[in-house]
Amino acid sequence: MAKKSIADVVVTGKTVLMRVDFNVPLDDSGHVTDDRRVRMAIPSIKSVIDRGGKLILCSHLGRPEPGKDNSKESLKPAAEILATLLGKPVAFATDAVDADAGAKVASLKNGDVVLLENLRFYAGEQKADPVFAGQLAAFADIYCNDAFGTCHRKDASMVAVPQAMIGRPRVVGFLVQKEIQYLSDAIANPERPFIAILGGAKVSDKINVIRNLLGICDQVLIGGAMAYTFSLAMGGKVGKSRVELDKVELAKELIQIGGKKLVLPLDTHCGDAFKGDCNKVVVKAGQIPDTFQGFDIGPETARLYAAEVGKAKTVVWNGPMGVFEMPPFDEGTRAVAEAIANGSSTSIIGGGDSAAAIQQLGFADKVSHVSTGGGASLSMLEGEKFAAVELLDEA
Ligand code: 3PG
Ligand code: MG
Repeated sequence: MAKKSIADVVVTGKTVLMRVDFNVPLDDSGHVTDDRRVRMAIPSIKSVIDRGGKLILCSHLGRPEPGKDNSKESLKPAAEILATLLGKPVAFATDAVDADAGAKVASLKNGDVVLLENLRFYAGEQKADPVFAGQLAAFADIYCNDAFGTCHRKDASMVAVPQAMIGRPRVVGFLVQKEIQYLSDAIANPERPFIAILGGAKVSDKINVIRNLLGICDQVLIGGAMAYTFSLAMGGKVGKSRVELDKVELAKELIQIGGKKLVLPLDTHCGDAFKGDCNKVVVKAGQIPDTFQGFDIGPETARLYAAEVGKAKTVVWNGPMGVFEMPPFDEGTRAVAEAIANGSSTSIIGGGDSAAAIQQLGFADKVSHVSTGGGASLSMLEGEKFAAVELLDEA
């Protein structure tokens, strides 16, 4: 399913509409606190402007309600970050398809770039409205999707815009290309042993990922709060741990399907209050005292998981092993991250919390790939195909 990429099209003198995912976290004063998604789009952006293309960037940010006061969700801070990263001016249009966008697009010269205001300020974006899509499509000669984090969505800019641009080149950017290479191709054809480590709070978020990966991995190691729902399914005691009672039957089914491939924690690091300086105890899995709750995998589990990861040739990791933001309950996540970083496997880290954890722990540059997509990376690991990518031109 190789798709034509931005490198395969002549862009000189042409206008390129590039959908990026600049849905970046902002603090209260509107500063971008993590610019990774912007940085990861730079290769595609430079590829267009360095070759003398006219570049229109568009994105959403947050989940604003169209028509309300959405000033907190403006993309202007992202334009400023991008200008700094590129070392050149980036124009910003205060709307996406109206007068200001029209004027700024019309005045683009070869090598210029403009970022349009948040697409979700328009109801048409999430309603996949063909009229809204047509307005965006009318701006450009070429469409490029480099918005990996949004590829699981069917918003207008992801699907209806390239649909409206049939007959004009419609390509992927380098980020989308790289994400697919790791999250889909490497997993479809893994070097073995192939190990998945899945954590996070809820089994319900990961059911389809667990199912899909049990079919292709040699082992699926479970951590995070979802381990306590599995523990209940095995008749264990979980104290006050976070569990999903309505997912216990499902956990039983996954244990059944998984057999020896599904590996559950051996021990649990518990606390009696949600703070780092609470009273702590390490117990065998399924033996959590009534007044305690599980906050992390225990040291025996951490050693086992690290050893398994050390032997692997391909590792996929999605979801922390414990409350990694609250030391000492970061120890399990740290042990796994360290083992991945020190190993020689092809290592693929899902977006969202796992990406945050690997960055916070300082191992991000020691793994093969850290995804920029949270929901999108989960969907890929579920084996889902993205309409937003499928409909683009074949290489
Ligand atoms: C994300 O951060 O997950 C993507 O930007 C998609 O955003 P959404 O979940 O609001 O559609
Ligand atoms: Mg999301």
